[in-house]
Amino acid sequence: MNSPELIKYQALVDELNHHARQYYVLDDPEISDGEYDKLYRQLLQFEKEHPEQVSFESPTQRVADAPLTHFEQIRHVVPMLSLGNVFTEEELHAFEQRITKRLQKETGESFSLVYAAEPKLDGLAVSIRYEQGILVQAATRGDGQIGENITVNIRTLPSVPLKLNTKQPPEVLEVRGEVVMLRSGFEAYNSWAEKHGEKVFANPRNAAAGSLRQLDPRKTAKRPLSFFAYSVGELVTEKHFGTHFEVLEWLATLGFQINQLNTLVKGLTGCSDFYHRIGQLRAQLDFDIDGVVYKVNDLSLQDTLGFVTKAPRWAIAHKFPAEEVTTVVEDIEVQVGRTGSITPVARLQAVTVGGVTVTNATLHNEAEIYRKDIRVGDTVFVRRAGDVIPEVVKVVKSKRPKNSQIFKMPTHCPVCNSLLFKEEGEAVLRCVNGMDCDAQRKESIKHFASRKAMDIEGLGDKLVDQLVDSGLIHTPADLYQLTEQQVAGLPRMAEKSAQNLLIGIENSKKSTLSRFLYALGIREVGEATALTLAQSMQTLENIMQADIDSLTALPDIGQVVSGHIIAYFKQPQNRTVISQLIGHGIQWPDIQKSDQNNQPLQGQTVVLTGKLNQMTRSDAKAALQQLGAKVTGSVSTNTDLLIAGENAGSKFTKAQSLGIKIVDEQWLIDTINQR
Ligand code: IVH
Repeated sequence: MNSPELIKYQALVDELNHHARQYYVLDDPEISDGEYDKLYRQLLQFEKEHPEQVSFESPTQRVADAPLTHFEQIRHVVPMLSLGNVFTEEELHAFEQRITKRLQKETGESFSLVYAAEPKLDGLAVSIRYEQGILVQAATRGDGQIGENITVNIRTLPSVPLKLNTKQPPEVLEVRGEVVMLRSGFEAYNSWAEKHGEKVFANPRNAAAGSLRQLDPRKTAKRPLSFFAYSVGELVTEKHFGTHFEVLEWLATLGFQINQLNTLVKGLTGCSDFYHRIGQLRAQLDFDIDGVVYKVNDLSLQDTLGFVTKAPRWAIAHKFPAEEVTTVVEDIEVQVGRTGSITPVARLQAVTVGGVTVTNATLHNEAEIYRKDIRVGDTVFVRRAGDVIPEVVKVVKSKRPKNSQIFKMPTHCPVCNSLLFKEEGEAVLRCVNGMDCDAQRKESIKHFASRKAMDIEGLGDKLVDQLVDSGLIHTPADLYQLTEQQVAGLPRMAEKSAQNLLIGIENSKKSTLSRFLYALGIREVGEATALTLAQSMQTLENIMQADIDSLTALPDIGQVVSGHIIAYFKQPQNRTVISQLIGHGIQWPDIQKSDQNNQPLQGQTVVLTGKLNQMTRSDAKAALQQLGAKVTGSVSTNTDLLIAGENAGSKFTKAQSLGIKIVDEQWLIDTINQR
């Protein structure tokens, strides 16, 4: 490489590292994935032609190409400490008393303390060492004195800089922090792992730990791991810092990711407010936390307070109620879902998990029960993270009763007694008795009436059970023929409620095509698919007649869903119910194709951020464009609207600070529906 070429190469390395930082550390990409890939390919080309010139900073150098045979042990120059814990406000109060008293005794002054308050990330503590600004070593915490050398694995994390972003690097800097697997990445990874026969992890913490203990860095590189810095170990620099927060701010300028929720608070009330605020946010965060940490912010006061054996006196962890606890499986039952799927459910001895009482946990399917070997009488770990349905994580085998029996799935439907089937390639057993199975009939009608479907007010789950059990309705169409007398005649039914139900049923007749499609409960046709179908095909007749080619040509509709749609409309019973429903007066406005005058977001610049639950990103983008919007990647003063999914990060904060209108995914769906 001649020198202009070399300069160009170095510039390309810098540019790629800059964009990786925008993406992984700051959550604020400036270019699309496609543009990044293009630059990356140019880099690969350069390096292929000049292998002798490859820079150690190049993003291609993150992943070593050979596995280790073992992890070497490393002694930490500055031990990695742990933290004391408190669980209650009283214990927190005692902590504050203890340290203010001690400070008064040592200095003769009295203090009202400022704390750095931080989420306590539930991952793995690591220490990463830089010499003259270059990453030279990374280690696990181990026992605090001696850890394992995991340098090759840590190098694969895109949020860890290989070189510090400064012209005057410290001689030595050991950055300490937590490696976590983001929840979104964890779910995506597990479904990939399941498909490819790789190990599925019980929770993001185990996944992060397992990934860092991988001897083959090429495997670690495939795991979505993220590093958050929260303190320093050995530090040799001429710089001086007065507070912990100044250190964190400096680390951020060097290129590290610092948790966005970290903040300064005053005294006990400040701590306690932070604890409650983060507790409320806990379920929405994209990373697991098991509490918050308070650290005396003033470094000279930290020095005065010093340490007890293994933990600093100047910091404390305030823990949240456990999200994983043990209890006993009292029984295993199976439930029949709307589409006949048979789901085993564990009935548990009541237990509090994450602050909520839990008595049931889903066991997903037969394979899952056998994989985890869950039996009646077993003591099990139950996990409930955020709003997620409680799950059995694993069995405590040592506590298994002697004569316990392996669970056997039923061969027949527990409700209609018909033989159960398993389709090829599917994990779930199914009752294929359709509407002749009372369980499926009830679940279908509940779905039909639900808020996102026909939204029938006054028709709750119990009432559906009663209406079906009493023989008053067999299909959703029968709802529209109910009389007030019939409903009022049901046990425990007041006249007023009967009237309200009939009003609710009447009101539901004015609907939209996409809601109606969704309400039919076709397998795998969720809200977003229903919306795509309605918008692209415009009439029910078109959809009912569509063939596999025209369906699979639509965005995000594959072979499997298309097959379900065609099979559904082929069934004569389904066609009858549909024509009865329309005969009873269900109607919706006509849909026009991309009408210029009906583009409520005409000319607006819109940004999407966070995780969407009901539609894919590409669907959302296409829908926004149909509404007239221009969709861009980053928030700026030109942005008119931010659509924020779950766990929205820095784009959300930036939009807030710029006073940009922020809406959620449901707003987008409603806007599309109103067209
Ligand atoms: S500070 C000297 N800050 O909690 C203080 N630790 O029980 C060292 N942790 O092993 C720790 N989030 O892995 C600190 N914001 C945070 C943290 C945090 C999680 C973990 C860390 C440590 C454990 C202490």
